[in-house]
Amino acid sequence: MSVPFDQLDGEIWMNGEFLPWKDAKVHVLTHGLHYASAVFEGERAYGGEVFKLREHTERLIESGRILGFQLPFSADEIDTATNELLRRQGFSDAYVRPIAWRGSEMMGVAAQKNRINVAIAIWQWPSYFDPEQRMKGIRLDLAEYRRPDPMTAPSKSKAAGLYMICTISKHAAEAKGYADALMLDWRGQVAEATGANIFFVKDGVIHTPKADCFLNGITRRTVIDLAKRRGIEVIERAIMPEELSGFSECFLTGTAAEVTPVSEIADWRFAPGDITRRLVEDYTNEVTPKRAAAE
Ligand SMILES: Cc1ncc(COP(=O)(O)O)c(C=O)c1O
Repeated sequence: MSVPFDQLDGEIWMNGEFLPWKDAKVHVLTHGLHYASAVFEGERAYGGEVFKLREHTERLIESGRILGFQLPFSADEIDTATNELLRRQGFSDAYVRPIAWRGSEMMGVAAQKNRINVAIAIWQWPSYFDPEQRMKGIRLDLAEYRRPDPMTAPSKSKAAGLYMICTISKHAAEAKGYADALMLDWRGQVAEATGANIFFVKDGVIHTPKADCFLNGITRRTVIDLAKRRGIEVIERAIMPEELSGFSECFLTGTAAEVTPVSEIADWRFAPGDITRRLVEDYTNEVTPKRAAAE
């Protein structure tokens, strides 16, 4: 077993202070724990710089606003704290996890007066999926749960509560030997994996579901731009699961997943091909400071 996350070394930034890692604690009667009143981000630093830090910080603030709370720190303050923590942790390549949550002043569904807490932790996390499997393509199962209708849940917020069905789905997939699960949406259309967006390739054209009920990932938007820079057409549209047999390549995108080829989804098969490989490379170039992606 590796070291538990609450026992790592270093510091965590919490509510304006740098605390020793092991002291960054919350009480058991924390609203965020009981009622999922928490929002978070997943960011990666490459070569000592957090990729698209401001976009992530703005999404964090917006996620809180959607849940009805305002973060007590500005985007500038959060960015400064992130950069300072990255420097203090001494990492060049790392994963960054900011989180904001309602505290423990009141318990109950209503918690109007609860303090909004903010913390940032940074640790080393090389690959989201098994590095050996990654370039061969990972295997996905089909999830039992579906992404909810935006009328049912605040789907534009990176809210902790929305991850309940993701953990259930990913655990069920892993128990069957898969790396992850493809989630359909409430209409039965292809949506995304449990922590990453999904893309397909057919006849040299990229197809990806419209992000109308799930997170429009920062990596998703970056990869769409990279593909367009390559002159590859990208179509955002409703994709039904029956269509999956017509696609030749499939890949996931996300801050943690980066660009990860997919070889199987349930009974459908894909072969990581030229377009996937090119985008894996372009994305690596894009996130690496001071090296432009392919023209
Ligand atoms: C459910 C879900 N979808 C998509 C993404 C991809 O988003 P991004 O590329 O902004 O990391 C993530 C990761 O944050 C996620 O958790």
